[in-house]
Amino acid sequence: MRKEVVLITGAAGEIGQALITALSDKGVNNILALDVKPVPRPLRERCEQVVVGDILDSSLFDRLLSEYAISCFYHLAALLSTRAEFMPEAAHRVNVEGTLNLLRRAVEQAIWLGERVKFMFPSSVAVYGMPDLATKAAVGAVREHQWTEPITMYGCNKLYCERLGRYYADYYQQLAAGPDPHYIDFRALRFPGLISAFTMPTGGTTDYAPEMIHYAAQDRPYRCFVREDTRLPFLAMPDAIKALIELECAPAERLTSHVYNVTSFSRTAGELAARTKSAFPDANITFAPDLSRQRIVDSWPVDQDDGRARTDWGWAPDYDETRTFEEYLIPNIRAKYNQL
Ligand code: SER
Repeated sequence: MRKEVVLITGAAGEIGQALITALSDKGVNNILALDVKPVPRPLRERCEQVVVGDILDSSLFDRLLSEYAISCFYHLAALLSTRAEFMPEAAHRVNVEGTLNLLRRAVEQAIWLGERVKFMFPSSVAVYGMPDLATKAAVGAVREHQWTEPITMYGCNKLYCERLGRYYADYYQQLAAGPDPHYIDFRALRFPGLISAFTMPTGGTTDYAPEMIHYAAQDRPYRCFVREDTRLPFLAMPDAIKALIELECAPAERLTSHVYNVTSFSRTAGELAARTKSAFPDANITFAPDLSRQRIVDSWPVDQDDGRARTDWGWAPDYDETRTFEEYLIPNIRAKYNQL
């Protein structure tokens, strides 16, 4: 018989690494990790198997699925918003075709296992598109159905994949004889900018926040690529992982949607720089906005309303801004760069 596993795609990315750690700490010892890049060595030991490969490689999946039955998908692999703008068609292939492949594989697995298969999907604040700064300031926190007019390829990809997930969960094979099969239990989280103490993001547009803190801890000057008054929502990585795991565990009957905002604190780049300087007084942070990347962050809302997640499955972040900096980021980042 095939061994039952939890698949994590994008396992070498920031969310992937933190998720492997958290799941294995909880005793999950059947993780199948997949990424185009190698997963760092200490994390490999926490996995059943680690595979370097592409989510678009269907013969790789054929091989893996002859060995493993996947009962839960954490589909994290994606090209983030800045990188995707440099190669939009390639981003579409990875972000959309990759997700479609995974959804089809999840259907296959559900048929084999005779039960619905969970499909966890990180979506993003990038699905929103505010028309101008005045509207962005006036609107404040956006709810899931509001202002979904993304201006980036990544945002379009994430929004469409949410729709695909909902389609596969609720309407796939709706014209087949008999009752709708409902193979997939699709659950998506719209994350704001994520900040980790242990890893740095690559290719995102919220990257200035983690970058300024990690640079300060290494005594490296940082030129922030957005204006000082740029306001976005943020979440500490432990809360992002908590949200993924809690949503995965939430009883299906409590969920009124396939898609949930989750967030913690909304701050300007200037406020984040001031916080960083209070921990690292020598930090050299200057602002040199890159107009194209600025346009992207200007189109994202100042905040996300996560009331639906709070009501349906009891979401609440553990880390507000103060705890994020004082208890999570600063001590761990100091230790990482030997600044004790
Ligand atoms: N952090 C991501 C990005 O900047 C947003 O999901 O692309």
